[in-house]
Amino acid sequence: MAKFSLPRNSRVKKGKYVKAPEGAKNVRRFHVYRWNQDDGENPRMDVFELDMDDCGPMVLHALIKIKDEIDSSVTFRRSCREGVCGSCAMNINGSNTLACTKPIEDLKGDVVIRPLPHLPVVKDLVPDMTHFYAQYAAMEPWLKTVSPPPAGKERLQSYEDRKELDGLYECILCACCSTSCPSYWWNSERYMGPAALLQAYRWIADTRDEATGERLDALEDPFRLYRCHTIMNCTNVCPKGLNPAQAIAEIKKLMVAREL
Ligand code: SF4
Ligand code: F3S
Ligand code: FES
Repeated sequence: MAKFSLPRNSRVKKGKYVKAPEGAKNVRRFHVYRWNQDDGENPRMDVFELDMDDCGPMVLHALIKIKDEIDSSVTFRRSCREGVCGSCAMNINGSNTLACTKPIEDLKGDVVIRPLPHLPVVKDLVPDMTHFYAQYAAMEPWLKTVSPPPAGKERLQSYEDRKELDGLYECILCACCSTSCPSYWWNSERYMGPAALLQAYRWIADTRDEATGERLDALEDPFRLYRCHTIMNCTNVCPKGLNPAQAIAEIKKLMVAREL
């Protein structure tokens, strides 16, 4: 294997280097961010060589192989392993994505795996999502009504009204979008970020919801909504192919419309 160096600008130290098994012919190198708040050490990048002829196709397969066969202390979240739960979101070769749906063969050269950027790290690849979830909760993500429900029936929607929710309800709250947004990096205490705003619009766009004015009032603030500067990283990285930037633009349009 060629010599390797850490990614430029990295303040993270080199960690251990684990070579592939003797005789492995199809070797790829995985750099994995490691940090354990309990050992008092600085973060480091450990490097693991893996035999791709004995590994599944996705980055999550590589991480599980490392954990199962080489270093059981490597820590990351995963559950569904099919792009549904959002828990395996991480930064892979500089882009936020889901490890379970990211094919290794789509990545050129060494694979560099870090936690989602600009969130506190709990351990290794596990970020602290507390603030992100609090922002989601602040969007009051449930149907709010004042009119009584039709007697003995559900609140029905037309086919066309239901289609308005396409591209919104599929969000899995992985946080890839918010943690790729520079505006969110610098102002995450006050800017809601693309994930929470897409969720806000999911309820604003729901024809059964009767709290649109209240929801818009809650976002009418120089930071909560208007710190989106249309940078578009959010839409470019969303692993579900959603468009949070457009959802934010729709909220801004409604803000303008109600002023006229
Ligand atoms: Fe993840 Fe996409 Fe939802 Fe953002 S919009 S949280 S990137 S699924
Ligand atoms: Fe950020 Fe997306 Fe707006 S990257 S600035 S939320 S368009
Ligand atoms: Fe559920 Fe990756 S493990 S989205």
